[in-house]
Amino acid sequence: MSSTNAIDYFCSLTKKTPINFNQYIKYEYVFVLFFMIIFILLDVHKRSHPHIKNSNKFAVFDFLYSIFNNRFHLFFRHQFEANPDQSIFKINLLLQDLIVITDPEYIKHVCNNRPLKYTRIEGLIEGLNGCGKNVFSGEGSQWSHHRKVTASQFNTFKLPKMEKPINQIVDRFVKKLETHTIEQPHQSVNFSKEVSSYTLDVLFKTGFGYDLNSIESGQVGTTPKIIKRLECVMGNITKRCLSPFHYWKYYTTFTESKFNKFLDLVKDFKNHFIQQDYAITEEAGLLHSLMVQMKQGLIDDDEIYANMLCYIIAGHDTSSKAISYAIWYLAKHPDILQKVKKEVVDVLANTENSYLSNKDIDKLQLLQQVLLESMRLKPLVSFILLECIEDDVVGDTEIYAGAQVVLTTEAVYRNAEYFPEPEEFKPERWEGVSFERCTDYNLFAFGYGPRMCPGRKMVRVQMLILFAKLIANFDIKLAENSIELVDEHVFVLSPEGGLNSYN
Ligand code: HEM
Repeated sequence: MSSTNAIDYFCSLTKKTPINFNQYIKYEYVFVLFFMIIFILLDVHKRSHPHIKNSNKFAVFDFLYSIFNNRFHLFFRHQFEANPDQSIFKINLLLQDLIVITDPEYIKHVCNNRPLKYTRIEGLIEGLNGCGKNVFSGEGSQWSHHRKVTASQFNTFKLPKMEKPINQIVDRFVKKLETHTIEQPHQSVNFSKEVSSYTLDVLFKTGFGYDLNSIESGQVGTTPKIIKRLECVMGNITKRCLSPFHYWKYYTTFTESKFNKFLDLVKDFKNHFIQQDYAITEEAGLLHSLMVQMKQGLIDDDEIYANMLCYIIAGHDTSSKAISYAIWYLAKHPDILQKVKKEVVDVLANTENSYLSNKDIDKLQLLQQVLLESMRLKPLVSFILLECIEDDVVGDTEIYAGAQVVLTTEAVYRNAEYFPEPEEFKPERWEGVSFERCTDYNLFAFGYGPRMCPGRKMVRVQMLILFAKLIANFDIKLAENSIELVDEHVFVLSPEGGLNSYN
């Protein structure tokens, strides 16, 4: 495993995808637009913030354009770029003001005041309708209860136990790609789609103790049923969140029916899993903890389903997209890749059967820097939308209850004051910074404060082990015919059309 595969593994991008569910979602937006306009016009004016400066850029058309083109991230980018000297300003969306916060210290302040003073916006919670009560959608004491259970999966006792299954799943993934490169050389592979199986298998094994093995369920290029159903989930949730009218309660669109099928599938998994013996052992991870809570009467059956669903939705696309972006950056920077390869080969040389322990991955310092820099330049979550529920003072600016607030973390990443030459890919800027402490250096890839991503510690392990073995076994480079990467916003930032690879 540690020797480099002789066959080159090329990375490239094309717009070819067999089915693009986001295309359907785009058409469905026309239907949503009608209700959106009526709602905005009828919306009751919230308490205004005359003391906050208006944005220098008219927003309405850009807002509509960005929604219909899956470019919501660009809407906020255009706004903070048009207001470079403002750490707080407001965007007027007809009758609705949106308060934008771009200063890292103010962002930390708001995050630290969740969930007491700031909650998720109502639209987001409505968009998650059908997903039940879970750690993501909950607020107040209900959230704090679910949060304890979810976060406990990644504590210092349980996290080290994940290294073994993750090593096994990575080995399967590498073997599948190796077989493909030998059997079908020069045939294109959609890397993002393939890596989807990897992240899903990791989630099922670590979260529910179940070996889904979607990696080996088919050859490269075939999409397992569960992943087909997962593909429309993020897009559908985004569309729901942006719609002021809860159309899905009255009418089932094409993507709604796909979404519902996915929810049914997770319910089936839940019913199947809780009848298994292993569900009552610690091996079942989150599922085990949820079962214990249910036995104590602290949560019900629906909450087990809701938190399993949340674990999959919050952990799947985020991880696979982050992996796709990082591999693209490595392919684009062969000089950096060579240095990382040396680091990886040195670490693997001291392992038995290429098994990477937590201690080994701690040594992959340069690789960690690459991942952090990739998450800075391609922030999966580039803004966080919140509602202020209790009057607050941010810096010296008053924010009133009822205000909609957006934390544009990406504005920090693109600010030369915090990141000199912000457009450049420079992993060395993260020298000596660990994943855990990246927020001290203004990288909020996993959020900040009490609602920070609980899965971040596992993400680190699953990314480092995967990259180490991919880099050691394949030569990664851009194909000659590669085109520029285009981002779209499908709940999280995503490479449009996936990331196609050629061998
Ligand atoms: C690269 C991968 C990931 C990124 C970039 C990421 C990013 C984030 C961010 C920014 C938040 C905070 C959102 C907010 O402030 O409202 C968050 C929350 C969350 N993440 Fe992740 N995440 C990743 C992977 C995962 C994984 C693998 C899991 C589970 C196994 C997970 C589970 C969650 C949950 C449950 C929440 C909600 C926490 C709460 O509201 O208390 N995430 N994630």
